[in-house]
Amino acid sequence: MRPNSAPDNHPDSGLNHNPVIAAYNLSKTFGQTAALRDVSFEVHAGEIFGLLGPNGAGKTTTVRLLACLYEPTGGSGKVLGLDITDEDSTERIRERIGMLTESPGLYDRLNALEYLDFFGDLYGMPAAARRASAERLLKMLGIWDRRTDRLAKYSKGMKQKIAVARTLIHDPQVIFLDEPTSGLDPESAKVVRDYVLELKAEKQRTFVLCTHNLAEAERLCDRIALVNQGRIVALGTADELRARLAGGRERLCKLHVRERAAELAEVVRGLAAGHGDISGVEQAGDVITYSTADAEKMNPLIVETVVKAGGHIVALNEAEQSLENVYLELMHDSREAD
Ligand SMILES: Nc1ncnc2c1ncn2[C@@H]1O[C@H](COP(=O)(O)OP(=O)(O)O)[C@@H](O)[C@H]1O
Ligand SMILES: [Mg+2]
Repeated sequence: MRPNSAPDNHPDSGLNHNPVIAAYNLSKTFGQTAALRDVSFEVHAGEIFGLLGPNGAGKTTTVRLLACLYEPTGGSGKVLGLDITDEDSTERIRERIGMLTESPGLYDRLNALEYLDFFGDLYGMPAAARRASAERLLKMLGIWDRRTDRLAKYSKGMKQKIAVARTLIHDPQVIFLDEPTSGLDPESAKVVRDYVLELKAEKQRTFVLCTHNLAEAERLCDRIALVNQGRIVALGTADELRARLAGGRERLCKLHVRERAAELAEVVRGLAAGHGDISGVEQAGDVITYSTADAEKMNPLIVETVVKAGGHIVALNEAEQSLENVYLELMHDSREAD
């Protein structure tokens, strides 16, 4: 028996009836290894959805399940309205998605045109359609003039761009990119990332991108699922993930005053003495720093008190949590929970 495709506990229940891609309690075990455990998420049209996590987290397994390259052990999923656990739809799903696997084979002896043509042929496209699509993609990459150069002659970044282009040969609406920049030097990685953003801007496509690179996820993805040990440990925009960690935790604030900083720092210390929510008041030059777990309540109070004491406030800033801190902390938490 195939698992039921409509569990009642999927995310955003009732809010979005038409996700382009959905995973519902998706699980996969390989022998003793639980590669994926009860993973659920929905991806909407036009989004770049990131699966971010360390090696072995389950990212590749997730996209392979969605691309119908593996069969789930439990749960279900949908791609373009088709059930990934329904044998009748797997062929149709494969035809309508593009998939860049980890370290794709580079057919160095082919030229760019032959390479794209080869993959178009795998999709069963007629010659004229393959040719038209390859021409469009190579023109977009700005290398139509070099179409007969062997891939061996291209730079690493350019080769990888062509590998991404090949996933688009049949103009799929859904594209899975598994670690598209891993193994590339920073410059080539940027070339590929910029290309992904161009593709996103060009027309409505929906991407799932696997990466272990935090900066990449932050730059490319509209929403990010942090994956660790086969589970999603957090999901949201980069800003939401940052806010989630900052919520209920200490935030470092910097109050920049025009003069009398030492005196005003004493005023803030006085306030801190009466409020457990303010701590660590320090002053250096014109800047008074303090920590608070309730910035929304305490910052206005501090501003009011400093102004009443005759202080001139130039600026009040909260030091932003870096996504890296969020990432490290969530990874740490999820390991402890195991
Ligand atoms: N074909 C497979 N056979 C056995 N174990 C696998 C297979 N694919 C993945 N795994 C295991 O599943 C876990 C998740 O792997 P993977 O999805 O490749 O992670 P990621 O892509 O995040 O690095 C790892 O422990 C990995 O060793
Ligand atoms: Mg992987």
